[in-house]
Amino acid sequence: MTFHISLIILLFGVGHSSFSNPMLLVEQQLFQYIDDHQDEFVQKLAEWVAVESDSLQPRLRAKVTEMIKTAAVSLRCLGADVTLNDTGIQQLPDGQNISLPPVILAKLGEDPLKPTVCFYGHVDVMPAKIQDGWKTPPFTLTEIDGNLYGRGATDNKGPVLAWINAVSTFKALNIDLPVNIKFLIEGMEEAQSIGLEGLLEKENQRFFSSVDYIVISDNTWLTTKKPALTYGTRGNACFSIEVEGGEKDLHSGGVGGIIHEPMSDLIALLDSLVNSSGHILIPGIYDDVAPLTEEEKQLYEPIEFDLKEYKTNIGVKKFLYDTKEEILLHLWRFPSLSIHGIEGAFYEPGIKTVIPSRVTGKFSIRQVPHMALSTVECQVKKYLEDVFSERKSPNKLTVTMQMGASPWVANIRDPQFEAAKKAIKKVFKQDPDMIRDGATIPIARMFQKITKKSVMMFPIGAVDDGEHSQKEKISRSNYINGTKVFASFLLEISKLHGELKLEASKLKIET
Ligand SMILES: *[C@@H]1O[C@H](CO)[C@@H](O)[C@H](O)[C@H]1NC(C)=O
Ligand SMILES: *[C@@H]1O[C@H](CO)[C@@H](O)[C@H](O)[C@H]1NC(C)=O
Ligand SMILES: *[C@@H]1O[C@H](CO)[C@@H](O)[C@H](O)[C@H]1NC(C)=O
Ligand SMILES: *[C@@H]1O[C@H](CO)[C@@H](O)[C@H](O)[C@H]1NC(C)=O
Repeated sequence: MTFHISLIILLFGVGHSSFSNPMLLVEQQLFQYIDDHQDEFVQKLAEWVAVESDSLQPRLRAKVTEMIKTAAVSLRCLGADVTLNDTGIQQLPDGQNISLPPVILAKLGEDPLKPTVCFYGHVDVMPAKIQDGWKTPPFTLTEIDGNLYGRGATDNKGPVLAWINAVSTFKALNIDLPVNIKFLIEGMEEAQSIGLEGLLEKENQRFFSSVDYIVISDNTWLTTKKPALTYGTRGNACFSIEVEGGEKDLHSGGVGGIIHEPMSDLIALLDSLVNSSGHILIPGIYDDVAPLTEEEKQLYEPIEFDLKEYKTNIGVKKFLYDTKEEILLHLWRFPSLSIHGIEGAFYEPGIKTVIPSRVTGKFSIRQVPHMALSTVECQVKKYLEDVFSERKSPNKLTVTMQMGASPWVANIRDPQFEAAKKAIKKVFKQDPDMIRDGATIPIARMFQKITKKSVMMFPIGAVDDGEHSQKEKISRSNYINGTKVFASFLLEISKLHGELKLEASKLKIET
């Protein structure tokens, strides 16, 4: 045992000179190779961006499948064992059926002594046309001032390729891959990942059984310069409130003043949901919100976030809160309620003295750990029914939860977060911001819920990458440094994982 420990220390020792530290030496070789071959990596990205793998327009479905096949070829070149799994058909709104593109399940290495990292990514893209206002053709990767413009450059072809480049670098240098690696690559992410959940469930006991860590690189940093790791996203519960009066619209001259108007009921209901400080008024709604610990609070202080710039970007004059910390907390780890619209109301310009007979208000709650969707649903319905009954209105009220997606939060003390932090420090020479996302990214939660494995979001794109916009890009520097940081991550996770195993076995020996 002692021999084993000293061997590990020897291998990954604390020495700072690369001559005494083989891991540093390996890392330098990898980084050098990545720098030397960056034009090839950019060329590869150009080839991928050239495929119009738009998953939203059914007429382009063959392109998505072509893109999946191209990605499969790249993975086979790494020596991976690649299967293309059929996930069935998609029924279009017009009743037509089209087949879903296959999902790639690939694995490289099966050494039981190494940790297994599973990378998830997607190679489909949002629609793009030059007429939408692109300055460069969206499917021709174009480099301007160090930025690589093109649809899919950052979402998500660039990051997927950065992973593949990282692994290919080990192979090219004949360096033993320090982990077993699996890839799950899909082509329907922009269309709500249709078919993926079923596949995960089916493969949970097979493909995922040996997986230790799941990494997703499908979001961005919070700034343009400072790297970040994402450990949480909010959920979303979307509600509709329908208030129905009589069968037909009425005229305020004919009945105004003598009936309970559906629209007045609805406005009162909507107005009862949240006060002007942004506080949700539904009783009990905050009960299950995870308490903010001192340790968690401290994560917020070093985060780089320019309130003024953000205010300008979104075009508002004032926030509900004054400090960076309060704003980020309320954006990421406290629930919020937003009112979105009213269906059936008169909304055209001009005057029409109508009393609509049926109106539907829409609002949503971005919920956070540990709020359960079913509890939120009950609380919302009960409260709105109470508010409504106080109005003694004869109208009919129907409250429905139209859609519910759960939040996700990871344990940031998990080894893969530690490994990613170390890799980031090496490549970018700074510590990452530990961030969450105020929006809902169902994929992380889906992986966590089904596989019960540790999930981490490890972005390499910058906040101004413009995913889904007419200016989508990834900078050459982020793409190449992203490739380096993934290569470094594989070394770091293998080292940390080994240390943990060793400690676990030491404990076993001692007891
Ligand atoms: C995926 O493909 C592999 C190889 O063809 C097969 O063994 C496995 O059953 C497939 N999984 C699903 C869920 O179809
Ligand atoms: C589409 O598939 C569904 C389910 O398999 C089937 O019920 C339906 O008839 C199909 N529609 C067409 C137009 O083929
Ligand atoms: C909104 O509700 C919260 C909690 O009850 C309270 O602290 C706050 O003062 C309220 N804001 C307004 C404008 O009434
Ligand atoms: C990578 O990051 C380092 C440190 O922030 C920076 O100096 C360098 O220009 C970046 N780009 C590349 C391609 O290495």
